[in-house]
Amino acid sequence: MKSFLLFILIVGVGTAKEWWEGGNFYQIYPRSFMDSDGDGIGDIKGITQKVQYLKAIGIDGAWLSPIFKSPMFDFGYDISDYYQVQPEYGTLEDLMELIEKAREVGLKILLDFVPNHTSDEHEWFKKSIKREGIYTNFYIWEDGIPDPKNPGGRNLPPNNWNSEFRYSAWEWNEERQQYYYHQFGVRQPDLNYRDPNLRAAMEDVLKFWLDKGIGGFRIDAVPYLYEYQDASGKFPDEPRNPDCADPDDFCWTVHIYVKDQPETYDVVYSWRKIIDEYSQKHGGEPRVIMTEAYASMDNIIRYYGNSTHKGSNIPFNFEMIQRLNKNSNAKDFSQVIAEYLSKVPKGSEPNWVLGNHDNKRVSTRFGEDRMDLINILLQTLPGVAVTYYGEEIGMTDVHISWEDTVDPQACGASPLTYEPYSRDPARTPFQWDDSPNAGFSNASKTWLPVSNNYKETNVKAEEKIPNSHLNIFKTLTKLKMEPTMQDGSFEQKVLSDDIFVYKRELAGSDTYLVVMNFGKDVQTVSLKSAFPNIADRAEVVVSSTQSPLQRGDQVQTDNIKAPPSVATVFKSLK
Ligand code: NOJ
Ligand code: MG
Repeated sequence: MKSFLLFILIVGVGTAKEWWEGGNFYQIYPRSFMDSDGDGIGDIKGITQKVQYLKAIGIDGAWLSPIFKSPMFDFGYDISDYYQVQPEYGTLEDLMELIEKAREVGLKILLDFVPNHTSDEHEWFKKSIKREGIYTNFYIWEDGIPDPKNPGGRNLPPNNWNSEFRYSAWEWNEERQQYYYHQFGVRQPDLNYRDPNLRAAMEDVLKFWLDKGIGGFRIDAVPYLYEYQDASGKFPDEPRNPDCADPDDFCWTVHIYVKDQPETYDVVYSWRKIIDEYSQKHGGEPRVIMTEAYASMDNIIRYYGNSTHKGSNIPFNFEMIQRLNKNSNAKDFSQVIAEYLSKVPKGSEPNWVLGNHDNKRVSTRFGEDRMDLINILLQTLPGVAVTYYGEEIGMTDVHISWEDTVDPQACGASPLTYEPYSRDPARTPFQWDDSPNAGFSNASKTWLPVSNNYKETNVKAEEKIPNSHLNIFKTLTKLKMEPTMQDGSFEQKVLSDDIFVYKRELAGSDTYLVVMNFGKDVQTVSLKSAFPNIADRAEVVVSSTQSPLQRGDQVQTDNIKAPPSVATVFKSLK
């Protein structure tokens, strides 16, 4: 009997997917998820209170935006100590408790690794300014160019590179009498990956947190790890971008030197090696890395690795964020999906990211009436799905006045121009219920205002409504665990400008069909003509909240009414 059980176990392990493959990931913005101590700022204990919720909505892994010590100039993406938890978020013990409570319900916690830059308050930077020992070259220091108009005076910046947060990416440091490079804010000096001591120090950070029992890392801003240096060691000017009229904006030059440098991929591969070796040595389920890169599709694919090196498990696929919007039609969606799937290497896992803390929310980008359509798409495509907190209940962007604006990317602009830059609207407190502050906090003021739609749009209210955004989301995450959704084929068709349909099929399991209408009118669709092998009848599994189609309704597959902005998942009847 024992050996029989063992046999099943081995066969099971051999054929089973790893925990993260085909999984559901969720991004928590800790500042805005749940405030346990009433200071108006979300915290780790708050997240711990909600692990049951994450489990209940079908999440396998939650990645947390940075919770490390930080002056919060860029809300944690400016780390002053990689080994300490930011006090307003809690303590290391709180984090350990979260990891443990999450483990008990079968949820993995992933931390945000921010390797490109630190805060200017980091000890390393202070020591680097003083040229102390190994820290001397931890950052990117340059003398700059003599100013012909000011002989003997301060040099000009070394080149024409601008920061993502506006103005020159080079900042003069009086004490060291050199410029340092910062891809992002002035207070976020870039680390120097050409220094082996720095690389070793960053590897230590990874190992420290792996030892705490995390499921892996989301890695921030990877394309920026290296800046191009010519043979003489100079950082050359980038070519001018003729489409950009603002000399202070990041768009001013074409970014051929500040991102996507070949060495970057090798660093990612070396981190994957550390992670895999750790998993092998310590046992348990594999730890994973998810990488953040806004880059060309070919460069995204490069992060997966090659025949000799494994890379990122989940190189975030932002194609739908970058290439699709409210005006995209069936063909646009189909093209983005087909192109991406055709490029994902065999044996690698596709993934889909529809939102995060750096972009407007789904409702703004795709339309409030398409929120379920987008969740249906995300959950029924093959591979990993990544959801930004609040998208499961249909949270919308909140207008933030200039006075309330705190995002450094927006603060660098003016009261008239800040809005397109501001990421605050998509970072507002999570809406748990209809009590004050949406149940997020009992403070008199929260760090960003709570949406004024919280009385209707909240977890508690939506739990009671059968076809709410939340219940649709829960149905979808369950559906995603079905063998067909995990391992089935994917076949898609564009039936018109408006109608996009696809079929998920797996021998011996249910066949699912998805119909999406991107148009403005009700359309009649024949799934039977699109996919002749399906049955004549199909049953509704889930449909958008405003749809007249109800779960369990049966339809003729040659005559389906598809309402505008609605998506429906059908199961082909046998
Ligand atoms: C990407 C992060 O997602 C963003 O929020 C941050 O501002 C930059 N990296 C700099 O760390
Ligand atoms: Mg708090």
